[in-house]
Amino acid sequence: MTEPSRSLGGLRSAFAPCVLLALGLGPAGVLHAQPQAPPSSVTLKPVRPGQAPPNPYTKKLIARGKLLVLSGGCNTCHTPWRLDPKLGVPAPDATRMLSGHPEGAPDPGGEVGPTDIALIGPTFTSFRLPFGTTYSLNLTPDIDTGTGSWTEKMFIDIFRKGRHLGGDGRPVYPPMPWSWIRYRSDQDLKAIFAYLRSIPPLRNLPPTEKIPPPVADAVIAMNDKIIALQKDPNVKLLAPQGGPPPPPALDLKPVVRGRAPKRTYPADMVTKGRLLVMAGDCNNCHTPWVYDPVLGAPAPDWTRMLSGHPEGAPDPQGKLGPEDNLLVGPTFTSFRLPFGVTYSKNLTPDIDTGSGGWTEEQFLAVFRKGRHTDGRTIVPPMPWDGIRNLPDADLRAIFAYLQSVPPIRCETPLPKVPPQALEMLERVNGIKLSGTAGPS
Ligand code: HEC
Ligand code: HEC
Repeated sequence: MTEPSRSLGGLRSAFAPCVLLALGLGPAGVLHAQPQAPPSSVTLKPVRPGQAPPNPYTKKLIARGKLLVLSGGCNTCHTPWRLDPKLGVPAPDATRMLSGHPEGAPDPGGEVGPTDIALIGPTFTSFRLPFGTTYSLNLTPDIDTGTGSWTEKMFIDIFRKGRHLGGDGRPVYPPMPWSWIRYRSDQDLKAIFAYLRSIPPLRNLPPTEKIPPPVADAVIAMNDKIIALQKDPNVKLLAPQGGPPPPPALDLKPVVRGRAPKRTYPADMVTKGRLLVMAGDCNNCHTPWVYDPVLGAPAPDWTRMLSGHPEGAPDPQGKLGPEDNLLVGPTFTSFRLPFGVTYSKNLTPDIDTGSGGWTEEQFLAVFRKGRHTDGRTIVPPMPWDGIRNLPDADLRAIFAYLQSVPPIRCETPLPKVPPQALEMLERVNGIKLSGTAGPS
């Protein structure tokens, strides 16, 4: 099979279930039974309505765009989080839907370890990377501060070119998952734009990214390479010259080939599933990242495609600030949250350690019930409640594609989450299933 594109695409969509428990950790790290009051130092300016241009798009196109935005988890990073009274935990704030990093909201307060991928701040809209800080932008149709003055072509070119506003200037920075979203057709990108034109315009100008100029040039070169590799995985590209030395190499165990059950699906179903997995950026979290010398940055290691957190790979090295939401570890498969550390799972069809041992119905239950294939409550940052907006046919296609990838044996660890937090997550997942929670 051909190797998919590499990508520094970014964290993902819908860290949605997102559910960051403000459970109090006692001095000895012992959990108190009662959840603490959530972060209080974040006071945001009141929401300000903006002004949108007329929306020429059809209801049908807008509805398609809405499905892509909800299932693609755009709200996770573009809608600021605050304590959700119904859930009892922080979650995307519907009154500021898709308006980006609020003016004056804090940067992440903790530290990214030397090999960590990213640290996500208090409103889930500020992102500290090893080389700078970025902020999610305002996607509402406000003419002055959002997308109201953009053309459809500019919007599509953002994804086609990996450049800000689809122009020829600065690159689009991580963790914006542009390189995965670009697997979508122009028509689907147009649908997303149409939906964005239809939502309430909000006035909010996120700050300029804090990225030193040499890094900006390096990211332009990297984005161009990602695009070239997506077109032709065998294209020969040169490693970047100069620049900072690579981070210390991760000492991962060799890849172990697994064994898959005999399952066959129609070719068009598998092709559809692959597109959904690529555009849905499942590889961000389920394929371990290692330093890629050609890109000059960490990227998914395709020899371990979709095999989850490698046995013995490190936890996140840095630390969360008191109000930060998430720290992404060195392989992008381990995640530190305020209440513990979680690991992505092996989705390859290995019978013993991956999806080869699951039935299609167990797989559907992950998204329909917020439960693991083994019945456990599913924990963040797995974006199950965004993905669950997809129809059954799409989920079945994803399962069919997963059965077609090379089986890899990899026993992923159980989440290190205390029982009180799991109970809380179970309750939160239940409220999300009732359909009464805010945007995911
Ligand atoms: C993991 C977090 C994350 C997710 C998920 C995410 N974004 Fe973003 N997005 C960002 C960040 C950060 C930026 C700012 C990047 C920059 O400054 O270059 C951004 C920027 C953008 C931009 C402007 C790019 C430019 O500079 O011209 C668009 C358009 C956009 N996002 C659309 C989307 C859509 C549509 C989705 C869902 C399908 C989405 N984003 C999901 C974090 C995210
Ligand atoms: C932001 C990171 C992230 C992204 C993106 C992501 N996942 Fe996950 N996924 C996780 C984590 C972490 C877990 C483990 C959760 C747990 O232990 O409860 C998980 C668990 C799962 C499980 C449950 C496996 C089991 O053992 O029961 C399935 C199935 C799954 N993911 C499929 C997907 C698919 C399909 C996509 C893309 C459409 C995707 N994931 C995208 C992080 C992610």
